Amino acid sequence: MEDGTKILSSSVASQLDAHRKYGGVVPELASREHVRAIVAIVREALEMANTRLEDLDAIAVTNGPGLVGSLLVGLTYAKALCFAHNIPLIGVHHLEGHIQAAIIGIDIEYPALALVASGGHTHLFECLSEGKYRLEGRTRDDAAGEAYDKVSKLLGLGYPGGPVIDALAAHGNPRAVRFTSPKLKGNLSDFSFSGLKTAVLRWTEARDLGAAIEARKRCHKPSIEQLLELTDQETIDMLASFQWLVIEELLNRAGRAATRIGAKALLIGGGVAANRGLREAVKARRWDFPVYFPETKWSTDNGVMIAVAGYVRWKQKRFSGLDLKAQANLPLAQ
Ligand code: KG4
Ligand code: ZN
Repeated sequence: MEDGTKILSSSVASQLDAHRKYGGVVPELASREHVRAIVAIVREALEMANTRLEDLDAIAVTNGPGLVGSLLVGLTYAKALCFAHNIPLIGVHHLEGHIQAAIIGIDIEYPALALVASGGHTHLFECLSEGKYRLEGRTRDDAAGEAYDKVSKLLGLGYPGGPVIDALAAHGNPRAVRFTSPKLKGNLSDFSFSGLKTAVLRWTEARDLGAAIEARKRCHKPSIEQLLELTDQETIDMLASFQWLVIEELLNRAGRAATRIGAKALLIGGGVAANRGLREAVKARRWDFPVYFPETKWSTDNGVMIAVAGYVRWKQKRFSGLDLKAQANLPLAQ
């Protein structure tokens, strides 16, 4: 990144193929794939940006939260590069990356509300000023992306579940199955998705879908057209209904929280922010604050979002020492 606004290059080493046959991320595999990819991916990013390590003003790296084996690979490599070339190191929180990806090159007004919905998180943060956050609410059980992935696995739709269910849902009736919103006591800004996941499980168990599920499982990386052929309309309607409630939950709770805190903007990031249904649903809401999404390709994990968040810290001279630790559970704010 140049000046935190201009994207010079982006290289993403996806390891989805390595994990797909296990139906989710396998931690040991993930670390090994990171080791395998990191040297080449950094070199490629530098080459595409037409720059050299020596010319960098800082290196931003995720130090948490996440799988500690994967974090360690990135962090150790970044530290080594910084040490060898005398470059400042900036540790970045994964969720700050997702938040900042929504406002690359945009000056927003504060306070703002940020919704991060990914495979591991569904959190609301109040953004008090640039780079300063307060936890407003969070999921009490599954993350939104996790619900997608579990429902997908249950129905033999593969991993990750979000993009596939999003595509299938576009062919279904979102009001066919009336899933109910969870009743949560306490913090109005909290979420819960495990009840919905269980409702999908019960719905599936009540039908004779075994053969269709097995048929879908046998396909290697099926196209949406293939999946549509292998899936009955009732199931597609159910998936559309599932997605409808996930979106309702995310937007209702985020919208009400934004109003409560007097937010002047709503930022929506994380893998689930790639969801087409979610983006459409936002357009239909008549909120009196603007909503910002990352470009779809910066919604799911990528290096650009870490560089952008790194720039925010760089401006504030919040550098990290070479003793920075990788933390599996690193809070962004309390
Ligand atoms: O942010 P991300 O790439 O990785 C984590 O930090 O977890 O998010 C990945 C999650 C997965 O659960 C995936 O199923 C979900 O984001 N996801 C989606 C879509 N694309 C990815 N969920 C709903 N709709 C999508 N289009
Ligand atoms: Zn993420």
